[in-house]
Amino acid sequence: MGLYTTITDAINQYTGLSPAAFFTISAMMYVVYKIVSGMFVAADAYVEVKREQQVMMREPVQIGDITEDELRPYDGSDPNKPLLMAIKGKIYDVSRSRMFYGPGGPYALFAGRDASRALALMSFEPSDLTGNIDGLEPSELEVLEDWEAKFEEKYVKVGQLVSEKTSTLVDDKVDEDHTKEE
Ligand code: HEM
Repeated sequence: MGLYTTITDAINQYTGLSPAAFFTISAMMYVVYKIVSGMFVAADAYVEVKREQQVMMREPVQIGDITEDELRPYDGSDPNKPLLMAIKGKIYDVSRSRMFYGPGGPYALFAGRDASRALALMSFEPSDLTGNIDGLEPSELEVLEDWEAKFEEKYVKVGQLVSEKTSTLVDDKVDEDHTKEE
């Protein structure tokens, strides 16, 4: 009890306030501090959200012919790059669906890749993360076509996957697929 009296006496002596008034004012100051500092955090978050919105709202830019390796960096890890994803070699700008395909999103694994096989099989297996659709059943190809139709409708096509950048190295099959416009 001696300590309590010493503290309350000291508060009274230094601040001229009763202990109850002192603790009430301290509590109020703490709450005000929390609210004000909370506003600064919110302002930071606001800037971040605004920046993300700007990235999402950017007009899709045509990227042309690129290889699968060149598509990889467009997986959302660099917020200044668009988010791209390919189906049957056609590259779509999916930046507006960053919540699906961006880092931490449920379908982030598809970003920066041709996800044809995974989508046809409704699979999240890493080994299905490929544009290779060899050996799929007709029903699976139908599922893939539905996805393709959805993407055609929702996203802007910004390019096409090629096996090699330099035309001399492009094998015949890819060249044929590439020139074929659906
Ligand atoms: C438990 C099973 C699943 C549930 C509950 C589920 C749920 C959803 C929901 C609610 C959406 C949002 C739809 C929208 O707002 O347009 C969505 C989108 C999507 N789902 Fe799933 N999903 C499941 C499995 C799968 C699987 C297995 C795949 C493919 C391997 C898949 C691929 C996708 C894709 C690519 C989108 C985004 C389409 C877009 O860009 O608009 N989902 N899913």
